[in-house]
Amino acid sequence: MIEADGFSRLGFGVTGPHAGLGTGRSATTRLIHQAIDLGVTLFDTGPAYGRGEAENRLGTALRSVPRNKVFVATKAGVQAGGYRDFSAGAVEMSLRDSLKRLQRDHVDLLLLHGPSPDELTDRLIRRLQAFRDRGMIRHIGVCGRGAELDRAIELGVFDALMAPVHAGISVPEQQRLERARTAGLSVIGIEAMAGAARPTGLPASRGDLWYLARQVKRRLRRDPPVVAGTSPVDGLRWALSQPFADSVICLTTRPAHLAANAALVAALEAGQPTS
Ligand SMILES: NC(=O)c1ccc[n+]([C@@H]2O[C@H](COP(=O)([O-])OP(=O)(O)OC[C@H]3O[C@@H](n4cnc5c(N)ncnc54)[C@H](OP(=O)(O)O)[C@@H]3O)[C@@H](O)[C@H]2O)c1
Repeated sequence: MIEADGFSRLGFGVTGPHAGLGTGRSATTRLIHQAIDLGVTLFDTGPAYGRGEAENRLGTALRSVPRNKVFVATKAGVQAGGYRDFSAGAVEMSLRDSLKRLQRDHVDLLLLHGPSPDELTDRLIRRLQAFRDRGMIRHIGVCGRGAELDRAIELGVFDALMAPVHAGISVPEQQRLERARTAGLSVIGIEAMAGAARPTGLPASRGDLWYLARQVKRRLRRDPPVVAGTSPVDGLRWALSQPFADSVICLTTRPAHLAANAALVAALEAGQPTS
C-alpha cells in the first residue's frame, strides 16, 4: 500500500479534454495550479491520452511546482489509438517516453493500463521491479475493471489498483476492492461522477463537446453504462464515503467544479454535513 499521506483524497485527471482540442493548454495549466492550491496532490495521466499531449501538459504545468508537493501517476501498455503492448520492452520504452514528456526523473505510480490477466507476466513484473530499484518509479499498480484486478491482487506485488468506484458497481466489484485493501493495496477510484454528468442541453464548451463525443463512442461500442447518480457531486460523495476508496480521481474542465469538488472533500474530512 502507498503510505497514508502519499496522496490527496481528491485526485485530478489530466486526460480526455486535457489531451487535445477539448481544453486549451493554458486552461489545463490553470486548473492544475488551482487544484494544487486547493490541496490536490494526486495527478493522473497516461501516454494514450492525445498521443502524449496530456503528459506534456502535466509536465509543463508542474515545472514550477516542487516535486515533493505532488504525486504523479501515469500508465503504460496502451498507446494512442488503443494499440496495446504489455511486453517488458514496450512498457520500458513507454515509461522512458513518459518521463521525458513529464519532465521528471521518476513517476510516483506506474499503472498498467487495462492488461489482460495473461499479460501480467513474470518477465513484465521483474522489469517493473527493476524500474523501481533504479528509482524510475516509486510504486506499481494496475488500472482496470475485471479479472486483471483479481490477478493483480493475487500476485501480491502491486501497490495500487485504479478502478471504477460509483454507485452502479456490483457487490462482487465492491468486494474485490475491499479485498485489495485488505491485501495492502491502495484503491484509486474513477468514474465517480461520469454517469451523472450527462450533458442535457446544447454543449456549452469545447470540453462538453469532448464529453458528448465520448458518450456517443461508448454507446457505439456498447460499453456497460456508468451509473448516473442524482448529481455528479452526489456521485463523488458516494465514492469518497466507501471505506475501500483511498482517493477518487475527477476530471473537470471547469474551475467552479474543481472548487466544488475540493470543498466537498474538505467538508467530509472535517466531518461536516455535506448535503
Ligand atoms: N473513465 C475511464 O475509463 C478512466 C480510465 C483510466 C483512468 N481514468 C481516470 O479517471 C479520471 C476521471 O475520469 P472519469 O471518466 O472517471 O470521469 P469523472 O471524473 O467521474 O467525471 C467527469 C465528468 O464530471 C463532470 N464534473 C466534474 N466535477 C463536477 C461538478 N462539481 N459538477 C458537475 N459536473 C462535474 C465533468 O464535467 P466538467 O468538465 O464540466 O466539470 C465531466 O463531465 C480521468 O481523468 C483519468 O485520470 C478514467
